[in-house]
Amino acid sequence: MKERVLDGKTILVTGGAGFIGSRFIRLMLGRYPKLRIIILDALTYAGNLDILRDVGCDPRYEFIRGDIRDKKLVAGIFEHVQAVFHFAAETHVDRSIVDAGEFVLTDVFGSFILLEALRRAPHVEFFVHVSTDEVYGSRDEGFFKETDALNPSSPYAASKAGADRLAYAYHVTYGLPVVIVRPSNNYGSHQYPEKFIPLFVTNAMEGRSLPLYGKGLNVRDWLFVEDNCRGIELAARCGAFGEAYNIGANDEHRNIDVAKRIVKLLGKSKDLIKFVPDRLGHDRRYALNCRKLRALGWRTEVSFEAGLERTVQWYVENEDWWRKIKERSADFKSFYAAYYKDRK
Ligand code: NAD
Ligand code: TYD
Repeated sequence: MKERVLDGKTILVTGGAGFIGSRFIRLMLGRYPKLRIIILDALTYAGNLDILRDVGCDPRYEFIRGDIRDKKLVAGIFEHVQAVFHFAAETHVDRSIVDAGEFVLTDVFGSFILLEALRRAPHVEFFVHVSTDEVYGSRDEGFFKETDALNPSSPYAASKAGADRLAYAYHVTYGLPVVIVRPSNNYGSHQYPEKFIPLFVTNAMEGRSLPLYGKGLNVRDWLFVEDNCRGIELAARCGAFGEAYNIGANDEHRNIDVAKRIVKLLGKSKDLIKFVPDRLGHDRRYALNCRKLRALGWRTEVSFEAGLERTVQWYVENEDWWRKIKERSADFKSFYAAYYKDRK
């Protein structure tokens, strides 16, 4: 298949002020000198313009604060772009357990609005839908292939599965140029400090406890964010329309082992690790078979050991970044207060 060309195009990146979207933008600006990027981001609690600080005032990108559910705004933007990378979503499983509403509205309905805009914009050459490994659900052994059934178990994962299949349905029904990617757990710099690794790193730095769910035996496949972004970019260039591509590092670790590594890297005591009641419906293990993307030439470049060290170092050196988030966010505190109310 002929590779799709990105340089010289104008692309829309939704959710570009979030953790992965912002890293993706950095990668693309570095790789394609003639690329132009329109970022559409609502700046929810998880969005942060500071995250794009290192891209500075590069004239090749334009930031639009807006909601992917705003049909008119989205239609207007689609007139000016040749490709779309759709990252915007509500993303935290714990929040989806407390209140699933925004997940359905953003992840499912928001994706629907974008796909409808795509229908009406035949000049758009391709649309990359960023899904997740969580759509498959959990498995104790073996690896999920792209053709396996989806059995999402959290409201977050179910909303993402809805969007994933909607993107597929729009390809089958209307012939739209959709490529779907399903990455595993990402980690790296600039991740909002409610997710496992940045929460544990920043709590340990503050001398606060590290709330480990259940017995800490759940397993995740940790993928360095830049490896993921390279995978997404490759799927955009070489992936077939209507197909899904798993992106995983095959670097599986139990949560307890990750927590221990974090305290060790920071020179803190293991006593900070506190076992707390388990997350409801907690998926035991995610694991992906990634042969399909590897066949296109993708490889990870960063091992978990090296990536975790770099990540911890970044949080140590960028305390102002995460402290601002943790301190300013009444929302952050009230969310945890509600969630942990009965879980102390
Ligand atoms: P994030 O929570 O850090 O960022 C999400 C961004 O989307 C934020 O900037 C937020 O302001 C924006 N957003 C939310 N609702 C919006 C709306 N209605 N309109 C416009 N913008 C909105 O998320 P992330 O970790 O960067 O994840 C990005 C994508 O990758 C998501 O689709 C997520 O499901 C998927 N994913 C994430 C992981 C992971 O480990 N983080 C793994 C697999 C897949
Ligand atoms: P998380 O970062 O929320 O990602 P996901 O649930 O999407 O995989 O959590 C990663 C793992 O860490 C998951 O098994 C739940 C666990 N975890 C804790 O033990 N304590 C915590 O405070 C959090 C946020 C997660």
